[in-house]
Amino acid sequence: MARLVIVSNRVPNRDEQAGPRAGGLVAGLADVLAPGTLWFGWSGQRADVTSGAVREVEQAGITYGVMDLGDADYRAYYLGFANGTLWPLFHMMPALTRFEREEYTAYRAVNRAFAAALMPLLRPDDVIWVHDYQLLCVAQALRELGVTNRIGFFLHIPFPASSLFEILPPARELLAALTAHDLIGFQTESDREHFLHAIARLHVPGADLACRTVVTPAGIDPAGFAALAARASRRVEARRVVESLVGRALMIGVDRLDYTKGLPARFDAFGKFLARYPAHRRRISFLQVAAPSREEVDRYRALREELDNKVGAVNGAYSDFDWVPLRYMARTVSRGLVGGLYRIARIGLVTPLRDGMNLVAKEYVAAQDPTDPGVLILSRFAGAADSLTDALIVNPLDVDGMAEAIERALTMDLAERRARHAALLAAIEKTSAAAYCRNFLAALVAVGRVAPPPLRPASD
Ligand code: ADP
Ligand code: F6P
Repeated sequence: MARLVIVSNRVPNRDEQAGPRAGGLVAGLADVLAPGTLWFGWSGQRADVTSGAVREVEQAGITYGVMDLGDADYRAYYLGFANGTLWPLFHMMPALTRFEREEYTAYRAVNRAFAAALMPLLRPDDVIWVHDYQLLCVAQALRELGVTNRIGFFLHIPFPASSLFEILPPARELLAALTAHDLIGFQTESDREHFLHAIARLHVPGADLACRTVVTPAGIDPAGFAALAARASRRVEARRVVESLVGRALMIGVDRLDYTKGLPARFDAFGKFLARYPAHRRRISFLQVAAPSREEVDRYRALREELDNKVGAVNGAYSDFDWVPLRYMARTVSRGLVGGLYRIARIGLVTPLRDGMNLVAKEYVAAQDPTDPGVLILSRFAGAADSLTDALIVNPLDVDGMAEAIERALTMDLAERRARHAALLAAIEKTSAAAYCRNFLAALVAVGRVAPPPLRPASD
């Protein structure tokens, strides 16, 4: 049977000492991979230069092949072209997008280095699955090295409207690099449409390309996450949160500290809610857990300062001797504890300005007690909003609209909460991590003639 080879910039953190790391790609894949899989990527470590030396470690039957990035490459490829150019542009924020030709050159060189380091580990019948915007050119580099295996690609973030994509100086080259894959996967129909439109407008050859794309939304393991959340809600940290609430409802936000997540407007909306609904003032406590991310990129540092100021403004205006309305923790907590916090929260507030999918929304739903579930407030600009239509859908720029949604969630009766939650649960079960992987791999092997590689038996 064919072996599955996953290639992604970020691989699961196997170093307990380094603590947990936030990020949807790893969270969505880690639960479904079968023993025997090879997962190849960046070690998370920096060296003097990118030597391409690979360290292989086996854990729970998965082999991790990792390589270090040289310091200059880390800056130019990861902080530079991947997270200073592609990330903001693909999230449709051109004003935050910069372009430096040297960074693009380094990006392509690192993609080639990934391909060269992976090549000796490959077997003839391996099915290769490359992930996300950091590695758009790896397949092309593998093809240049003579690799003929099936290669699929999945974009976890949005694909921008073609008029925006075209502002990238190497737009056409990047599209051509993507066509080296046998199959290209997207989170939503609109991402696929944008991509195909860009291909047509920039006259990139690839006549059969429409049949070589698939839409399959990333997901979670709902049953596994529900069990984790139920266990974790009894943990000491979760109990301390419950004790601190003294009869108040908890509203929770859990995000990487990223400007796409809409945190400033979210804090403003909470302030607006407290101003507009004084009767609710002491009846709610908002806990925002934000995992520091890409801290060496200026825009991320600026966001952190902006949020510190906003928290001060809300708490300065509304705190009382025995009530702090907004608790903000800029740190990454364990996955279990995240689940426990979701479970005790009456409201999950997920308001990205733009998001490929957003697994936090799915985790929040999975973590609820179905007999007394909380309410999900969700941005219409998260990919998850395509399927989670029974959430309270908001525009993440509309501060008043979000304040009204908080009020509505807080006062929603049990029957409506249960009905909405049942529909949301059905949606996250349909788009589980297992279904995501199954659909993608089935489509990938359908464009060739290889047997599908194994996944762990589905718990969905
Ligand atoms: P992204 O991939 O852009 O970070 P997602 O919502 O798809 O967004 O996935 C984020 C993942 O990281 C989720 O599994 C979530 O639980 C986790 N996460 C986000 N923030 C934190 C945090 N502060 N502490 C722990 N885990 C976090
Ligand atoms: O899901 C989007 C994503 O960019 C992943 O590709 C990435 O691993 C994750 O967010 C976290 O970001 P980073 O790997 O830069 O810490």
